[in-house]
Amino acid sequence: MGKRKILQAVLTAGVCVLLLCSCSGKKQGGAEKLQVGVACYDRSDTFINSVVDSYKEQIGSYQEDGLPVTISVMDAAGLQRTQNDQIKELLSSGCSVLCVNLVDRTDPSEIIDLARDNDVPIIFFNREPVAEDMLQWSGLYYVGAYAEQSGVMQGELAADAIKEHEEVDRNGDGKIQYVVLEGEPGHQDAIIRTENAVDTLKKNDVRLEKLSYGIANWNRAQAQNRMTQMIGQYPDQIELVLANNDDMILGAIDAFEALNTAEDARPVFFGIDGTDVGLEAVLDGRLAGTVYNDKEGQAEAMVKLTIALFTGEGMDDIAFENERCIYLPYHKITIENAREFQNLS
Ligand code: BGC
Ligand code: CA
Repeated sequence: MGKRKILQAVLTAGVCVLLLCSCSGKKQGGAEKLQVGVACYDRSDTFINSVVDSYKEQIGSYQEDGLPVTISVMDAAGLQRTQNDQIKELLSSGCSVLCVNLVDRTDPSEIIDLARDNDVPIIFFNREPVAEDMLQWSGLYYVGAYAEQSGVMQGELAADAIKEHEEVDRNGDGKIQYVVLEGEPGHQDAIIRTENAVDTLKKNDVRLEKLSYGIANWNRAQAQNRMTQMIGQYPDQIELVLANNDDMILGAIDAFEALNTAEDARPVFFGIDGTDVGLEAVLDGRLAGTVYNDKEGQAEAMVKLTIALFTGEGMDDIAFENERCIYLPYHKITIENAREFQNLS
């Protein structure tokens, strides 16, 4: 063997040892090593991406305090089957905690069985399993937010704007002609947000006329398409657009921008999330309001829970609801306070 080959062989062996170490989970160099597997339904989702980024950033501080941490993030790209395979991979690489953002929130059984067989706890986040599934095993947790609250807050923001600015009722008929852009059917945050926003507007004595709705699966480009169709169907009639998240409301605004609709001929727009792009749109006046979906708070709760599950310490300090769930509150955002929500992480 020539020198180069020997060197290559030594290097390859070194890499293998390193890989073995990084996959073998707990003990490494005397210190316990925390290995977390994060499984996302779709990493092209703006909100999910920011939760995962914040989680990584916040768990990094434990790393600085001497706890070695590795995180593997998986993207199921919208397929539950892919996610199930990714969970198998994460478990066989030695993860001690799983954070799972289900693709299909009604279909977690295979993942639960795998985790239970390996005795690895799961922190579900953002896409809430149904209550019966949460009861399948005591190693299951959920971190999210109150869907109803976000809908009520969106309705209140819209009701306030309509009362303050009578020009929202552009045709002056005493009713607000509106459309809704909805997230994925079956997601706890889609239908519940819509129902609560509309009910809240009605409770606040706003007379409404629903012109149409479109399902845009949380996605900006799909929302622009749906909105363009609705504008074609109801030219110059739409006075209010509600969307179940910021990406979809931004897609709706894109549609009006692409059609060069004059400012005073546009409806008012309300989203939910307060993503970076959403906050910018509030600050530059394109978006009348949004509702903060506390990504940093949710990531923080996930980090605390991860650490407590791994070390076995600190569980008593966590305020659970329904024994194993944590819900973070939403906050209303308008141009008045949007800046306070920027760069929180
Ligand atoms: C967020 C959406 C996101 C969805 C993904 C919702 O809570 O508001 O922006 O697309 O979760 O599951
Ligand atoms: Ca009207």
